[in-house]
Amino acid sequence: MMSLPMPAEDPRHLPNRAVIDPSAITENARAVRSMLGEHTALMAVVKADGYGHGMLDAARAALEGGATWLGVAHPASALALCNAGVDAPILTWLWEPHSARTLLPEVINAGIDVSVGSSAMLTQVSEAARTAGRRARVHLKIDTGMGRGGVLASSIDRTGRALEADDMVSLVGAWTHLASADDPDDPFTDRQVELFDGAVERLAEHVGPVPLQHLANSAAALSRPDLHRDIVRCGIALYGYPPVPGDCALRPAMTLRSSLAMVKPVAAGQTIGYGHIRTLEEPTTLGLVPIGYADGLHRAAGDKASVLVRTASGDVRAPQLGRISMDQIVVDLGTDTAAEPGDEVIVFGDASGAPTAQDWAGAVGTIPYEVLTSVSARVPRDVRA
Ligand SMILES: Cc1ncc(COP(=O)(O)O)c(C=O)c1O
Repeated sequence: MMSLPMPAEDPRHLPNRAVIDPSAITENARAVRSMLGEHTALMAVVKADGYGHGMLDAARAALEGGATWLGVAHPASALALCNAGVDAPILTWLWEPHSARTLLPEVINAGIDVSVGSSAMLTQVSEAARTAGRRARVHLKIDTGMGRGGVLASSIDRTGRALEADDMVSLVGAWTHLASADDPDDPFTDRQVELFDGAVERLAEHVGPVPLQHLANSAAALSRPDLHRDIVRCGIALYGYPPVPGDCALRPAMTLRSSLAMVKPVAAGQTIGYGHIRTLEEPTTLGLVPIGYADGLHRAAGDKASVLVRTASGDVRAPQLGRISMDQIVVDLGTDTAAEPGDEVIVFGDASGAPTAQDWAGAVGTIPYEVLTSVSARVPRDVRA
């Protein structure tokens, strides 16, 4: 039997909020859109609940900013978008036999495009299309080096023949995913592009020209105009984090907020947190913030990150001290502080002087994608009007 999580607490009474600013997503989409030629469409990638921002809000905001496609991993997410009345072409690319049996007929019926990355997947889509009584619109995924899903370039002829013989599918697209577009010096991207182009050319010998070709993620959208092709699939840039340096103005769409629970002056020698990894050398004032790893902070960032505290006498950047606990962190407010319980704390986000998800990622050796998608279900999302 399947069980669904039941919130233990009324979200209205929880101390933390992920404040989502849909206008940031709209403006980011507009900024990315302005870098694309008129024949390139912008697909907003809203998988993983819109990178933690809320899938539907993210999708609507990106469409308002000029995105004309939506991309999600799971077919269930694609259906949720359709059922919410979102009227844009959608591509779903990650499914297994169970989802294929239970969801793909409905997905195909709804006119959602489906990615196929193996012969077995082609058979499953074809069966689902037969059940739906409607041809499936398929994008063929070509594995050019990610080694995840996708037909290897070396077996493209076999796939081409199978597609040619299958009257339940229409091949509308061919795509691949770049492994290191965020490192412009890595020649691997060009090797992938070469493999992709060769495979698409051979595919065309079986099925004719493939209408939609796409391979660019945010990094390639921002730094490789030569790879824009028919669609760019952008996620992280729309949420405000450019994976490559450049002058596309983007701003974070999520601000993670908390507030001070307690303020406490302490003497030199005070130890802090589990494992007492931090001992203070000077007296200071500690601030207790009721947010921890159960809310999505990375425990490994302990003692290496900071927050912004908004006190009556101004904003202060307060280093986080010691290990991060499940529900709380301790920050250093300094000796001369006006901070009081109830003062707003910005853990990361869109505020002058505040740390970003990139800063928190840097503290742990991860990427802002993981920081954003880690903000847990315990943190209510407040969507700005
Ligand atoms: C297949 C695919 N395309 C595009 C994206 C978007 O990538 P980014 O967020 O780097 O733009 C993702 C996200 O990981 C993805 O899985």
